Amino acid sequence: MLNFELYNPTNLVFGKNQIAKLSELIPLNAKILITYGGGSIFKNDVYNQVITALKDYNLTEFGGIEPNPRYETLMKAVEIIREQNIDFILAVGGGSVIDGTKFISAAVKFSGNPMDILHKRLLIKNMDEVVPFGTVLTLPATASEMNSGAVITINETQEKLSFGGSALFPKFSICDPKVVASLPKRQIQNGIVDAFTHVFEQYLTYPHDAMLQDRISEGILQTLIEIGPDVVENPTDYKLASNYMWSCTMALNGLIQKGVPTDWATHMIGHELTALFEIDHARTLAIIGPNLYRVMFESKKEKLAQYGERVWNIQNKTIEETAKEAIEKTVTFFHKMGMQTRLSEYTQNYSSTAEFVVNRFEKRGWKAMGERQNITLEKVKEIVEMSY
Ligand code: NZQ
Ligand code: ZN
Repeated sequence: MLNFELYNPTNLVFGKNQIAKLSELIPLNAKILITYGGGSIFKNDVYNQVITALKDYNLTEFGGIEPNPRYETLMKAVEIIREQNIDFILAVGGGSVIDGTKFISAAVKFSGNPMDILHKRLLIKNMDEVVPFGTVLTLPATASEMNSGAVITINETQEKLSFGGSALFPKFSICDPKVVASLPKRQIQNGIVDAFTHVFEQYLTYPHDAMLQDRISEGILQTLIEIGPDVVENPTDYKLASNYMWSCTMALNGLIQKGVPTDWATHMIGHELTALFEIDHARTLAIIGPNLYRVMFESKKEKLAQYGERVWNIQNKTIEETAKEAIEKTVTFFHKMGMQTRLSEYTQNYSSTAEFVVNRFEKRGWKAMGERQNITLEKVKEIVEMSY
């Protein structure tokens, strides 16, 4: 097992009707900015619950954070916080609102050009540099509610860039599975596939000695396979909703990544497809992931076979056969979860995508990715072309 440090200070408050606890979690003298997205919180009961819980607080609201949150929008919230001396942010939404809030939190006290946080991928480690924030999660998918990373899109340059740091864990996150009831099918499908791929990026590497991390990863994958199709059809079923929510958090709260090699190339390529075509994050992963495993087959086949045996119960076949079948089972599962797995099913404008992605990676100096640093730019080209 590789050496590791585990630091996760987020107070995760999980369960029915927990939004009422907000007043126990935020100091009464705090001046709060509530951040939210396009208005889903007004259609379900989430906004009402938040406002009721915070009736004795000084509140300002900032709405309109887009899916794939935009730098330009977030900077407007930064101005409001500076002008009104706000000292706490409450993000109420999915991954985009929470990620956007992480950026706002880091940008308020940043003395240079806030775009540098993204372009230079600065690590935000000092608590004095951020405005503290908590979250009320409304969409299980990203685990942004319990990690310190964020992904922000810059309109001006059409770039989707990630950043983070240990000062950017939420102080608390309220995760009430009842929010799943109002989610459109498409978003639940996205959540399941995003979480599934998060496990893949930390699990489908090469055989190693971290036995428990593998078993936890396989447990999350098995749970997502078991509940995924059902929760899409029955989002009010609390058993399904709560297991969906917790699986998504566990997939990327840092735990399964400790002591193991990781990949993340599927995400890196996927972000470019969102930046170019505005394809939902999870759907880009369903396009790229299986082809990355096909192209990188030789270096990942042992782990693919372990996944095939333990998660899909493929027995009595060679490593190669089991690994190949495991990829096909994954594609079938993605289809069952409503994913299309080819770029041409989303856009007709795809013919120069591979070249575009490779050029961008080259400019950023990303020339060797994956757990063995063997996903070269040639491999990236092959993966993207195979995905047309
Ligand atoms: O904006 P509103 O009106 O709230 O509607 C949202 C949005 O349109 C809607 N929604 C959310 N909760 C709802 C709801 N509709 C009805 N009922 C509810 N309870 O869902 C739509 C999508 O929301 P969004 O937050 O964009 O989705 P998601 O949570 O999948 O987040 C995706 C973003 O997170 C980033 C992605 O790149 C993408 O930008 N990621 C963040 C990560 C992290 N911080 O660790 C890791 C991930 O790999 C990912 O990259
Ligand atoms: Zn993801």
